[in-house]
Amino acid sequence: MAAPDPGAAPPRFAIRPWRPDDEAGVAALALRLTVGLPPWRDPLPWAAAAQGWVRTWAARASSADDQAVFVATAADGRCVGFVDVAARRHFTGAEEAYVGELVVAEDVEGQGLGSRLLSEAERWAHQRGLGMIALDASMGSARARALYRRRGFAEESVRLVKMLPPGPRPGE
Ligand SMILES: CC(C)(COP(=O)(O)OP(=O)(O)OC[C@H]1O[C@@H](n2cnc3c(N)ncnc32)[C@H](O)[C@@H]1OP(=O)(O)O)[C@@H](O)C(=O)NCCC(=O)NCCS
Repeated sequence: MAAPDPGAAPPRFAIRPWRPDDEAGVAALALRLTVGLPPWRDPLPWAAAAQGWVRTWAARASSADDQAVFVATAADGRCVGFVDVAARRHFTGAEEAYVGELVVAEDVEGQGLGSRLLSEAERWAHQRGLGMIALDASMGSARARALYRRRGFAEESVRLVKMLPPGPRPGE
């Protein structure tokens, strides 16, 4: 491994575990999870669900050891990214790590922060002895899918949807 260069510029962003005072910053960033949604998905309930997930971690953060949230901050302390990862059981019984959400603020995209946050999630999984890390990505999120491909993720399944004509209302 190469020795660190003492003259190198310090990284622009720091990554650390979640703290309770991150809740508002992370909840604001979670609204970006509507990027790349297909036109048939209403972004409003999606955004509301994302805010709910953040509240759920906030409530569990101090007691849970089967999940972690890592937060990226800029030099001024602003929250500019986060990733959450948890241990979960696949239906075959195998235990794996699952990345629930990965978000980087729009104004700092393309600087490798998404990749660094993903590395943090992988490190967490590796330290727990988990042999696989999985996630779901929207087909419309080209940027996210390019990042995952570059980081060695293989596409495992494709979810298909089809619109049906409106049916009778209950009671009709
Ligand atoms: C997906 C996301 C986390 C990536 O964060 P990031 O900090 O920009 O990621 P990185 O800089 O580490 O890597 C970006 C990679 O995306 C790809 N990319 C960059 N610009 C792109 C573009 N306009 N279109 C498609 N792919 C692009 C490249 O592969 C790039 O890597 P490289 O240029 O270094 O080879 C961020 O865009 C985001 O928060 N998006 C909205 C939320 C989201 O979609 N989250 C994922 C849910 S599954």
